[in-house]
Amino acid sequence: MQMKIIGHRGSAGTTPENTLLSFAEVMKSGAYAIEFDVQKCATGQLVVIHDPRVDRTTNGSGLVREMSLDELRALDAGKNEQIPLLTEVLDLVAGRIKVNIELKSLGTAAKTAEILDQYVIDGKFTYDQFLVSSFVHPELMLFQALCPQCLIALLIAHVPANHADTYAQMNIWSLNINLNSASEAFVQSAHKNNFQIFVYTVNHPDDFLRLQQMGVDGIFTDYPSRFCQDKS
Ligand code: G3P
Ligand code: CA
Repeated sequence: MQMKIIGHRGSAGTTPENTLLSFAEVMKSGAYAIEFDVQKCATGQLVVIHDPRVDRTTNGSGLVREMSLDELRALDAGKNEQIPLLTEVLDLVAGRIKVNIELKSLGTAAKTAEILDQYVIDGKFTYDQFLVSSFVHPELMLFQALCPQCLIALLIAHVPANHADTYAQMNIWSLNINLNSASEAFVQSAHKNNFQIFVYTVNHPDDFLRLQQMGVDGIFTDYPSRFCQDKS
């Protein structure tokens, strides 16, 4: 079976990560989904940026959680792109591709659930077009309680020793794991428990082939065009 291709932070290898420019690029590639990161800024809006600080990806300096939306919007996130709001990304995508929203921090679940509910009510998305993930598992469980119709992905950096049963009781759609943690045994045990396995971040064709042979369900890549066959 073909592995599903998810554009990591958009098409981060070819455009400034987590920008509307990058998400538009993924939509042209024929990828399965777009992945991006959300955080709450000082004035309460959900913004799309990976790091706790703006320093690496913009021309500014400071902590996202301590900056107002106006301050964040004044920054250049690359090629004159602004740091987008979650709502702007959803408006751009408008149900044309699935979105994987990674909750980067505590305090993001409630507002995310409220926004996703509204986009479904407005007929712009269906719940099964949303996959919500997080390394912050309590925040993810809170989100699931608030928005039980959405698909959930548990992000893990390391596979625990007793992995066969660790996640069996959780109502999740996928386990999203680090490239270094992927093994055939883990994929098989996940499939036995009805979880899909997605692997981040896969940019090299050799890794792609190795994971395909393991039976991995999909990958996150900074270069979605490199791995998509049917471009639209
Ligand atoms: O969701 C997969 C991947 O995005 C997780 O790692 O650090 O790129 O957010 P990171
Ligand atoms: Ca991410």
